Amino acid sequence: MMDELNYPDLPNDLESFWMPFTSNKDYKSSPRLLASARDMHYMTPGGRKILDGTAGLWCCNAGHGRTRIAEAIKAQADKMDFAPTFQLGHPAPFELAKRLADLAPGDLDHVFFTNSGSESADTALKIALAYHNVRGKGSKFRLIGRERGYHGVNFGGTSVGGIVKNRQFYGSLIAGVDHIRHTHDHEHQAWTKGEPEWGAHLADDLERLVALHDASTIAAVIVEPVAGSTGVLVPPKGYLKRLREICDRHDILLIFDEVITGFGRLGASFASEHFDVMPDMMTTAKGLTNATVPMGAVICSKKVHDAFMAGSSAGIELFHGYTYSGHPLAAAAGIATLDLYREEGLFERARDLAGYWQDALWSLEGGHHVIDLRNIGIMAGIELEPRPGQPTARAMETFHKCFDDGVLIRVTGDTIALSPPLIAEHSHVDQIFETIGSTLKTIA
Ligand SMILES: Cc1ncc(COP(=O)(O)O)c(C=O)c1O
Repeated sequence: MMDELNYPDLPNDLESFWMPFTSNKDYKSSPRLLASARDMHYMTPGGRKILDGTAGLWCCNAGHGRTRIAEAIKAQADKMDFAPTFQLGHPAPFELAKRLADLAPGDLDHVFFTNSGSESADTALKIALAYHNVRGKGSKFRLIGRERGYHGVNFGGTSVGGIVKNRQFYGSLIAGVDHIRHTHDHEHQAWTKGEPEWGAHLADDLERLVALHDASTIAAVIVEPVAGSTGVLVPPKGYLKRLREICDRHDILLIFDEVITGFGRLGASFASEHFDVMPDMMTTAKGLTNATVPMGAVICSKKVHDAFMAGSSAGIELFHGYTYSGHPLAAAAGIATLDLYREEGLFERARDLAGYWQDALWSLEGGHHVIDLRNIGIMAGIELEPRPGQPTARAMETFHKCFDDGVLIRVTGDTIALSPPLIAEHSHVDQIFETIGSTLKTIA
């Protein structure tokens, strides 16, 4: 739908912006623009309302245009735009860190700030390597990721990630990385509501790598509790607990990448709380500030943090940090966002909505082209049969048509991945699945 193209506020040159993870040629020949956003909706420049089925990019958990957050950012900008956090400080990141430590389960209570999920992943991997070093176990240098994992696009995250297209153009990436197998198995798990019964034993693949490399060389394993970007792959029952046990057995740190699953997506503060499995570190970003100001955080256990305080000699304990680690505007946005989550009970709201969400998703069972449905919390994956010889084309066409019909969905490969803001009402949930269902009927 091209109403956007006739609107006077349109940029008259689309050429200069090299768009990320986008077919620039396709997009620029048929651009789809968003001009403003409030609560559950985007508006196009032409004034069309688009229901947000994806919380932006898995990140606007409290919905759009939240005045409380905008005011906090403005107040902080008026008071102090920037202050370094190297050898200096200002109150906001200390307060936000304390709030995150209180929110995170168990003894995950020390927070290292970054600016994105990618930086959080690389920060956690570096902390893991340094952790073993400061304990005198520098031989533990290997990092283990998982097939079909996504940990952002920096070198560490790309290396432990398991998406071929994200890796294949970048040479050898970082050394000393290996991958356990992914948890998805269509034959044993298709059409499961929530966590599949089959597959806890897949965690034992880590034992295979221990046998191959020896535990004395392995520093850490990083996984998404629920793999989001490769199509909402819900972990099999007992899988994460088993992974934890194997890590404990071999003194391997377990890192949960909670960039998507954090901040209420599963109806709990974090997936680690939902699954009752405690990692040694959690990476976060996105919902931390409701996506208003870029910010990420690595939340570390006392064990990890204290090893640095005990282990290193006087001076800087960790040679790592970003100019904007704990940026005042981001920290102010984060504090206001956590206030909103708590005061509006949004994590509990997500928990209450999960049943309705699941039922609405499952109305697509037997629908055109649908070969699997997956869900947990307020996340859903709808896997489509790929068009013969044209992988991803059917999903991409569905994305375009749904947008034209007023619903923003996300597609990854041939899977539609959904994650609306946690303020969604039943009527929004209905509209999302009705639009997808009717769109799929019109697609070849
Ligand atoms: C699990 C996970 N980790 C890391 C990232 C990277 O985050 P960013 O795009 O903020 O760098 C993402 C982004 O979707 C993600 O889903």
